[in-house]
Amino acid sequence: MQRDLIAEIPKAELHLHIEGTLEPELMLALGERNRVRLPYSTVEEAREAYEFTDLQSFLNIYYDGAQVLLTEEDFYDLTWAYLERARRDNIVHAEIFFDPQTHTERGVPLQAVVSGIRAALDAAGSELGITTSLILCFLRHLSAAQAMAALEEALPWREAIVGVGLDSSEIGNPPSKFTAVFDRARAEGFLPVAHAGEEGPPSYIWEALDLLGARRIDHGVRCLEDERLVERLRVEQVPLTVCPLSNVKLRVFDRIEDHTLARLLDRGLCVTVNSDDPAYFGGYLNANYRAVRDALAVDADGLIRLARNGFVGSFLDAGAKRRHLAALDRVAAAHGASLT
Ligand code: HPA
Ligand code: ZN
Repeated sequence: MQRDLIAEIPKAELHLHIEGTLEPELMLALGERNRVRLPYSTVEEAREAYEFTDLQSFLNIYYDGAQVLLTEEDFYDLTWAYLERARRDNIVHAEIFFDPQTHTERGVPLQAVVSGIRAALDAAGSELGITTSLILCFLRHLSAAQAMAALEEALPWREAIVGVGLDSSEIGNPPSKFTAVFDRARAEGFLPVAHAGEEGPPSYIWEALDLLGARRIDHGVRCLEDERLVERLRVEQVPLTVCPLSNVKLRVFDRIEDHTLARLLDRGLCVTVNSDDPAYFGGYLNANYRAVRDALAVDADGLIRLARNGFVGSFLDAGAKRRHLAALDRVAAAHGASLT
C-alpha cells in the first residue's frame, strides 16, 4: 500500500482564522442555542451560499456567521472543534487568528472571547498534544483609532496573545493606515504579522514589512509582480502564509492549476501552506497540501520543504523548532524524501 506522506508529516498551521472554522452544523446549533436568526435553515442552504466572487463577498457571509458566537462556551466549542479536526490532519502546532472587533462591536465581552478560545487551546496542549498561540487581528476596514482601542482593551490578556495581525477588506486599507497601532503593539511585545498581497498590490507588502515590521506576510502571493520585492523576501526569508484553496474560492486565481505556489517555492521563498477559513473554503490543511501536490506537481521533497517552512516560520522557540524539524526529518527519511 502506498503510504500517505501528507497524512504522516507533522505540520504547523500559521494562517487560520478561528471564526473561519465555524462549520454550518455548529453555526446552526449555536444559532438555536442562542436564539440568533441566520439567513439559512439547513446545512445545505448554508453551503450553497458559499459561492464567492472575491474577498468582500466572502467577508459578508463570514461576519454573518460569526453572529451566533456569544458566550465563552461558544468560543470554546468553536475552538475545540477546530483543534480536534486539526489533530486528524496531524497538525502539531497552530498559530490562530481571532477578530475581537467582530465580537465586541456586537456587545460580546472580550473576556468571553479570549477565555473561551484560550481554555480550548490549553486543553489541546494536554489532551491532543497540539501546541498553539493566539494572534489578535485588527479589522482593516475599521479605523486606526478603533484598532488602537481594540489593542488597549486586550492589554489585560497580554500573556494569552503572542502577536497582532491585520485582516478583512484589503484594497483601500493599506498597512500604512495602522502604523501607529503596530508601533504600540510592538512596544508592548506583540509579534506583528499582516495580510498583504492577497488582493492588494505589492506596495502593501512593502508597507507591511517597512511600516508595520511584519515578521510574516499572510498570503503575499502578489509579490511575484515586483522583482525587487521577491528578492527582498528571499534574502530575508520572510515567511509567506499561502492558502491555496482560499485563493481559488476567492478568485485570486481562477483555478488551482493557476496558483503560483510552486513558482514562489522555486524562487527560494519561505512558503508555507495553510487553510485560512476552512469551513468556508472546502478544505482543512491536508486538503490544501493535496491540492498543491495534485494540481501543481509539488513532489515529496517540495511537500517536506513546505512543512519545514511551517515550523521555521512559526513563533516557536529554537528548541521546539529543532524538535519538530527532527521529527519531520524522520518521516521524510522513512518516505525516502531527501531534505535537510
Ligand atoms: N483575508 C482577509 N481577511 C480575512 C481573511 C482573508 O483571507 N480570512 C478571514 N478574514
Ligand atoms: Zn486570512
